[in-house]
Amino acid sequence: MKGMHVIVGVTGGIAAYKAVDFVSRLRKQGAEVQVVMTEHATKFVTPLTFGEISGHPVSVSMFQEVINWDVEHIALATWADAYIIVPATANIIGKIANGIADDMLSTQVMATKAPVFICPAMNTNMYENPITQRNLQTLRDYGYHIMEPDSGHLACGTSGKGRLPDPAAIIDWFDFTYHKSQELAGQTVVVTAGGTQEAIDPVRYIGNRSSGKMGYALAAAAARHGAHTILITTPTQLAIPMGVQAVTVHSAKEMKQAVDEVFDDCQALIMAAAVADYRVRNQAPQKLKKQEDFTLDLVKNPDILKEAGQRKQKQKLIGFAAETEHLIENARKKVDSKHLDFLVANDVSQQGSGFNVDTNQVSLVYADGTIKEFPLLSKKEVAERIIIALSELKK
Ligand code: CTP
Repeated sequence: MKGMHVIVGVTGGIAAYKAVDFVSRLRKQGAEVQVVMTEHATKFVTPLTFGEISGHPVSVSMFQEVINWDVEHIALATWADAYIIVPATANIIGKIANGIADDMLSTQVMATKAPVFICPAMNTNMYENPITQRNLQTLRDYGYHIMEPDSGHLACGTSGKGRLPDPAAIIDWFDFTYHKSQELAGQTVVVTAGGTQEAIDPVRYIGNRSSGKMGYALAAAAARHGAHTILITTPTQLAIPMGVQAVTVHSAKEMKQAVDEVFDDCQALIMAAAVADYRVRNQAPQKLKKQEDFTLDLVKNPDILKEAGQRKQKQKLIGFAAETEHLIENARKKVDSKHLDFLVANDVSQQGSGFNVDTNQVSLVYADGTIKEFPLLSKKEVAERIIIALSELKK
């Protein structure tokens, strides 16, 4: 969202207070934000609050004292890269759907060519009213983006659909919907993430330090580029990205089974998971009691990626390799032995790369020997580049 110009329209609902946090989060993500309020919204939160949070004066009236001599509703409407209404009452939804422009906010929405995002929030009966539903459908048909409200306890004392989602969820939806593209539309992309857990007994396992961040970022990017995205993940602390179908597994064997189930029908498999090379031969059925010395008997796990490489028809295969030396040489061997389209190689001995950090510095090593090097980037940016590289592979 860095550098993006966003107008946040605030209308008169009790959830208007949540828009303060929303604007603050948008700015933290690097967006430049201007707020426009309806007269009714100012009864819930003052323009001063939004002025402080956004860093710009807030527009309310069409006829307030002119600060600069641009026609304000037109100037702001053309300044915007995106226009988002948080919260949107039944009233503003009805007005926009029916072409009514009788205040600053509704006039700007009519004047903007930027994509418009609407986050409805109202009492359940109002939300379910067929007139509101018809108005929302009209807006969808015109290409407006509508966020589904949450269900739960509402300010009016009832329970049901109509709650404004949390500001963090609105940011995710807005970011996802705004950036969504269609390069991978019609394709199924399977991504594995996290570190496998190989059970010793019912309470203990052998694990590794993988946080799952890279795999989750890849799944988010694949979905953003329009792919039907299946994330096969071990348990992590991370939220499932917007638009992604998740399957939770624990061990390498479970991960292999989950991959096998979807592999034939997918167009690409990205193995970002840190799969344990070994598992305990005889997993104890009961919790083991302590003893003096103790030896675990380990047996080799299946190599999920290698077996997919042997079985692949049309599928694109992308592997990951963490190395501490001879990065490119080792990567080349893995591309050959696992029949990959490319391998994402990272030198985990470098600062800022590898497990549990938010950045990564990687090189893509292709089957034909080509190497693409990237600088140190956030995992989100690395994921974006990997997904673009995937979409550019020959069909
Ligand atoms: N992989 C897999 N199944 C395994 C082990 C690894 O699918 N049992 C995948 C990983 O998800 C990753 C790639 O293979 O995409 C890593 O290849 P691998 O040869 O296992 O790399 P390292 O673990 O780094 O191997 P080595 O220790 O031999 O360097």
